[in-house]
Amino acid sequence: MSIDPQTLIAAARASLARAYAPYSHFQVAAAVVDEQGRVFTGVNVENLSYGLAICAERVAIFSAIAAGARRITAVAVTSSGADLLSPCGACRQVIAEFAAADVPVHCDAPGEPRTWRVAELLPHGFTASQLGR
Ligand code: THU
Repeated sequence: MSIDPQTLIAAARASLARAYAPYSHFQVAAAVVDEQGRVFTGVNVENLSYGLAICAERVAIFSAIAAGARRITAVAVTSSGADLLSPCGACRQVIAEFAAADVPVHCDAPGEPRTWRVAELLPHGFTASQLGR
């Protein structure tokens, strides 16, 4: 099930105002597509205990999983910042848990959005084979 990158980026942008970022003042929103073509969005949610913040990408993916999704087929991410945002390392590992190596990750920017594949964002990541599975 494919979805137009611009549509997915638009879904992320539409969520951006719901980010809870009173400490960093850096709003992030993500949108993901599951294997049924459903779109789930997420925003970063911060906490007074700063280390408890969770990124928008993981909120979107965990929301999808909680709704029954098991595979992610596309990801989009946007932010309130002036520069292109690409997912942090922890989120790359979580994306890789549910998305195949060739799944596109659309990274929004004020100019031209960039798209990378999961394998480009997380080369040499931790895999099930290393766990002996
Ligand atoms: N953040 C995300 O939501 N996603 C990323 O990929 C990078 C960082 C959030 C976490 C925190 O709330 C704020 O951006 C500043 O780091």
